[in-house]
Amino acid sequence: MKILAFAGSNREESWNWKLVRVAARLAREAGAQVTVPPPEVLNLPMVNEDLVAREGYPEAARRWKSLLVNHQGFLIASPEYNGFFTPLLKNALDWASIKEHPEEPSLQAFRGKVAALMATSPGSLGGLRGLLMLRIQLENLKVLVLPQQVSVPYAPRVLDKEGNLTDTRRLEALRRMVQEFLELLRKLHG
Ligand SMILES: Cc1cc2nc3c(=O)[nH]c(=O)nc-3n(C[C@H](O)[C@H](O)[C@H](O)COP(=O)(O)O)c2cc1C
Repeated sequence: MKILAFAGSNREESWNWKLVRVAARLAREAGAQVTVPPPEVLNLPMVNEDLVAREGYPEAARRWKSLLVNHQGFLIASPEYNGFFTPLLKNALDWASIKEHPEEPSLQAFRGKVAALMATSPGSLGGLRGLLMLRIQLENLKVLVLPQQVSVPYAPRVLDKEGNLTDTRRLEALRRMVQEFLELLRKLHG
């Protein structure tokens, strides 16, 4: 049972990468095997079917998709852009939904997988609205999304330089969510 933890941000000092690393740490403390890839893995060309027809499926997209294929659980944090999750994350999910070969099983990166969602932002809602959209997107891709989710408002006040989440109420909510996520994964994947 392997878990991939990633965030939908390409900012160097991304709050959401910090938050997802906290969740990854909690999952490891609970005994899970967690991969946190370098943020650049989501930096892919804009999906373009003509590009695929002309040049084939991009190597960077192949690397990203195989990461998803090789993990059963996803811990995902995404910034909220105008009430939505980011175009960076949408693009990366779209690439992984495209078959490289006709015989490839459909949605093999997603089908039967489990995801837990979180968000943070400098604002008072903590990116909460974007998570609803991300949930719909993942369910369209046949991912089972945990009902619980965590949003963390006022990111610069509560995520410190050492990568700690100092909002103890939110930290406990995150810990509970990670536990529920791991329990569900164990039930489904052993
Ligand atoms: C185009 C754009 C739209 C944004 N819209 C929202 C928003 O709807 N809600 C919100 O809380 N923050 C919004 N923000 C601010 C982000 O929450 C902030 O930039 C945050 O640091 C991004 O997450 P990151 O640090 O993980 O990259 C927006 C930022 C951008 C660039």
